[in-house]
Amino acid sequence: MVNFHLQTLKLGLILVWLCGFILISISFYATTQILPSSSSMKEHINNLTSSTRPTVTIFTAVRPFSGSIGRKQTLAIRSWLGLSQDIRVVLFSKDPSVFSFAGSFGYGSRVSVEPTIDFTFLGTPFFHSMVARAQASNSDISVLMDSETILLPDFFSTLSYVHKLDHDWLFIASSRNVSDFPFHLDVDGKHWLGDNNKMVKMEKLQEFLSNGKWEHCDDKKTIIAWNNGELPLHNGVLPPFLYGKGFHTLWMINEALSSNFRFVFDASWTISSFFINNIYNNATIEARNWENVGNSHLGAFYGSLFFHEDHYNYSNLIKLFKCDKHYHFGSTIDDIVYPLGVFRSSKHTKLSTCFDKLKPKGNTGCSTKNQLMSLEPISLPFSLELLLSTRADQNKTIVLAVAGYSYKDMLMSWVCRLHLLNVSNFVVCALDDEIYDFSILQGLPVFRDKLAPNNISYDDCHFGTNCFQRVTKVKSRVVLEILKLGYNLLMSDVDVYWFKNPLPLLTTFGPAVFLAQSDEYKITGPINLPRRLNSGFYYAHSDNSTIAALEKVVKHASLSNLSEQPSFYDTLCGVNGSNRLGDDMCHEPETNLTIRFLDRNLFPNGAYQDLWDLNNVSSTCMKKGCFVLHNNWISGRQKKLERQVSSGLWEYDISMRMCLQTWQRSKSISYF
Ligand SMILES: *[C@@H]1O[C@H](CO)[C@@H](O)[C@H](O)[C@H]1NC(C)=O
Ligand SMILES: *[C@@H]1O[C@H](CO)[C@@H](O)[C@H](O)[C@H]1NC(C)=O
Ligand SMILES: *[C@@H]1O[C@H](CO)[C@@H](O)[C@H](O)[C@H]1NC(C)=O
Ligand SMILES: *[C@@H]1O[C@H](CO)[C@@H](O)[C@H](O)[C@H]1NC(C)=O
Ligand SMILES: *[C@@H]1O[C@H](CO)[C@@H](O)[C@H](O)[C@H]1NC(C)=O
Ligand SMILES: *[C@@H]1O[C@H](CO)[C@@H](O)[C@H](O)[C@H]1NC(C)=O
Ligand SMILES: *[C@@H]1O[C@H](CO)[C@@H](O)[C@H](O)[C@H]1NC(C)=O
Ligand SMILES: *[C@@H]1O[C@H](CO)[C@@H](O)[C@H](O)[C@H]1NC(C)=O
Ligand SMILES: *[C@@H]1O[C@H](CO)[C@@H](O)[C@H](O)[C@H]1NC(C)=O
Ligand SMILES: *[C@@H]1O[C@H](CO)[C@@H](O)[C@H](O)[C@H]1NC(C)=O
Ligand SMILES: *[C@@H]1O[C@H](CO)[C@@H](O)[C@H](O)[C@H]1NC(C)=O
Ligand SMILES: *[C@@H]1O[C@H](CO)[C@@H](O)[C@H](O)[C@H]1NC(C)=O
Repeated sequence: MVNFHLQTLKLGLILVWLCGFILISISFYATTQILPSSSSMKEHINNLTSSTRPTVTIFTAVRPFSGSIGRKQTLAIRSWLGLSQDIRVVLFSKDPSVFSFAGSFGYGSRVSVEPTIDFTFLGTPFFHSMVARAQASNSDISVLMDSETILLPDFFSTLSYVHKLDHDWLFIASSRNVSDFPFHLDVDGKHWLGDNNKMVKMEKLQEFLSNGKWEHCDDKKTIIAWNNGELPLHNGVLPPFLYGKGFHTLWMINEALSSNFRFVFDASWTISSFFINNIYNNATIEARNWENVGNSHLGAFYGSLFFHEDHYNYSNLIKLFKCDKHYHFGSTIDDIVYPLGVFRSSKHTKLSTCFDKLKPKGNTGCSTKNQLMSLEPISLPFSLELLLSTRADQNKTIVLAVAGYSYKDMLMSWVCRLHLLNVSNFVVCALDDEIYDFSILQGLPVFRDKLAPNNISYDDCHFGTNCFQRVTKVKSRVVLEILKLGYNLLMSDVDVYWFKNPLPLLTTFGPAVFLAQSDEYKITGPINLPRRLNSGFYYAHSDNSTIAALEKVVKHASLSNLSEQPSFYDTLCGVNGSNRLGDDMCHEPETNLTIRFLDRNLFPNGAYQDLWDLNNVSSTCMKKGCFVLHNNWISGRQKKLERQVSSGLWEYDISMRMCLQTWQRSKSISYF
């Protein structure tokens, strides 16, 4: 059981996300600035230019389609598609039921699934990754909304209106929470029908909805929409919020207001959106996988971390409203309707009546403070045993990465690469608290090695140093522990780039065979010479021979003042290679373990054939049929990182804190 201490974590994270954190604090106190300050922005508010109908893509994270959740999502999505032929829907999910739902609309339909955004290992999508994907949309307008929220036609009329604004904009719209909605959608998804299948008028629907309560406290129920224009949404870097956890929408609005790039407003009064709130039945509780224990603790934690302990609400935003069939903007705080101008008094009276209806009666906001206060302390239940049992593949095999904080970007690039290769049976062993916290925030299956030395997060913890020796000795102990729990294991340093999944090959050698990368740099000759075993990439089968041999290695390493790498060779192949067998094997007689050195054309080390010096490493390695390429035989963390980034064998966007996605890749780099 790894116990997680909020306070320690907070401190660490403040450092990790320092930039974002400062922005939050600043924007908090900058929100009194509520109007677009640049005068040009104000002028542009009612300067309508474009007259074409906008193309719209609605992005939504969906839960698996089953039970009442499935039905609610289906109804909501049908209501969106019925609004206009110009609306497309992108579903964020990796679940097979979502693919079949999208498939049911037929080939070339307006519904598609996007499984390549970042998810935690428990399947929760990351909000920052969803936003990035939505920003890459080629439609005029991107919308992010909850998958159970139903829309009425005034949604599309509002978008058609704001599409004509001559300034980039961003709006939110709150939804209503109704306990019952006695109408059903017709086959086309265009009309709502009442009892005797008679069409129900829009006015009647709206009247019915006006009894529903605004939902202000559930951040994910707020619709966000923006035009895909020139200006960024905001100046900040979105923290890796889990979708539906914490106040990500508030965060974005705060940032957008303080960045002052776009015209930010609240369109709740011109958009009829609602969700039906009734009790979930038992069958669907399983499907609500975002709500499982580990995740909800994490989510609560995100909320507290990335938001100031104060309250904020949307009542300060400029509001879009409709009066006498015309749209207007107004600020209820300043009692101003835009554009500023003289109205004929009759018109003015009417407008004031409309405007007065916007003024909040009673409490319209939601105190984030109250919600944050009620959070329980976090205790993450990710023990090694639990992680292994949920992550191992059907061969009971685990891929293990061991990393310290100074290798965090390398770790992420490695993880992103494994995601691309659909390899999901990996776990991460954190060598220090910083990398543990970082990995938790990035949604990785991570455990903390309790025996690891505490201070290893140094830039100079590289090959040959004291630090390096201590770190590498941790690895074999963890490996031994995992083998003893009955799991086969592929140990891969995070500086090993994977071209394709080597497990199908490595698992064919069977028990009592230990497979390791050779560090031999000469092109020809034996590859099993003394000290040529690289302990940064090896496969160990969980059996008596291997466990007994690894026990000897760990013991040897504990007595040696060198790193553990020589202990592997000296123990398994004998000092001076006395246990060598042919040119690429050893046999350890006491444990009857066979050691095979992997073919260097398939598993090249960093020196072999100077592969890293080629101007197209990737294509050469692909032609050779490489499974992996080790970024070793280079000194210094920085140089190593540069070499990997510059050769294009890099999969992580450091500044955005998310995997490089297919939609972000430059077309010049080839991936396969
Ligand atoms: C309104 O838009 C038109 C066309 O883009 C532009 O020529 C005009 O200058 C704009 N007016 C203002 C006040 O910005
Ligand atoms: C909707 O309202 C009901 C009753 O007021 C409340 O119990 C429920 O939590 C609300 N739903 C959401 C998603 O906030
Ligand atoms: C729902 O679950 C509860 C507890 O898990 C159980 O007691 C109850 O019988 C279930 N109800 C139905 C209708 O399955
Ligand atoms: C919402 O903001 C307004 C204006 O800042 C404030 O008066 C009100 O108390 C806030 N509501 C809540 C619930 O925090
Ligand atoms: C990973 O899975 C996706 C979806 O199932 C598939 O399109 C893709 O080709 C797979 N990639 C690899 C490398 O197997
Ligand atoms: C931890 O680091 C400090 C400062 O670099 C060093 O003096 C100390 O010996 C280290 N502790 C261990 C257990 O190695
Ligand atoms: C599981 O092991 C078998 C051989 O024992 C191998 O053919 C198969 O590819 C392995 N599966 C994976 C996912 O590695
Ligand atoms: C492995 O060792 C255990 C106990 O040490 C023993 O019970 C078991 O039979 C051994 N298995 C094999 C395949 O030798
Ligand atoms: C390592 O140990 C050997 C003896 O086992 C000793 O000769 C050598 O000086 C030690 N090296 C260091 C750096 O302590
Ligand atoms: C290994 O070789 C060195 C020199 O070649 C020799 O001095 C040493 O005794 C040898 N050790 C063993 C255990 O064979
Ligand atoms: C050692 O392993 C080989 C197969 O790897 C097996 O044929 C042999 O019987 C084993 N010898 C002993 C003593 O267990
Ligand atoms: C590397 O080679 C591949 C395939 O030949 C090619 O598509 C790609 O553009 C090359 N990349 C660079 C950086 O030259």
